[in-house]
Amino acid sequence: MEMNVDMSYELDPLPYDYDALEPHISEQVLEWHHDTHHQGYVNGWNSAEETLEANRDAGDFSSSGGAIRNVTHNSSGHILHDLFWQNMSPEGGDEPEGALADQIEEDFGSYDAWKGEFEAAASAASGWALLVYDTFSNQLRNVVVDKHDQGAIWGGHPILALDVWGTLLLPRLRPGSWRVRRQLLRGRRLERARDPLRAGRRAVRVTNVDRSVEI
Ligand SMILES: [Fe+2]
Repeated sequence: MEMNVDMSYELDPLPYDYDALEPHISEQVLEWHHDTHHQGYVNGWNSAEETLEANRDAGDFSSSGGAIRNVTHNSSGHILHDLFWQNMSPEGGDEPEGALADQIEEDFGSYDAWKGEFEAAASAASGWALLVYDTFSNQLRNVVVDKHDQGAIWGGHPILALDVWGTLLLPRLRPGSWRVRRQLLRGRRLERARDPLRAGRRAVRVTNVDRSVEI
């Protein structure tokens, strides 16, 4: 995530081409989701920060409460989408290894138990399913986050983000299947899972969740 010289936030380019996740996510959908939808949160965050700054300069804090809420909502949208793009990869698949695998085993009992719980979180969420590292309890947790900021655990550092809300609303190239594709390092195994909650099934790849487990 980058800030320019005047300290406003900027949208990083995707770490792959717009068509790199086809057929799971179409070029058109990915371009809109990143360039328009995600950009909106970046703009919203910057706008709210400008309001706060102007209010401080003017000594008038009448609109600062709302601007603080806007910072929380839009920053969360930006931060989680930024992680979401990094979590996905055209080479996604397979189970984690190393430190992440050990931590999942310790905190969830097994990879399958984590997987089942994460899918339950995704089914319960109208925003995001997140795997976070809970720095208060020193353990991994799955959490259900509505919108971008409702359901967060304080001290929870997100390491895997699944955009459930966006995924459910966005058109799919293959509406008959929902694939949760995990990279979890650099493997290639394609996982398939049904969406038990919503109408239709969706396609998502979720990758590279181990990148920050050594917090
Ligand atoms: Fe989204």
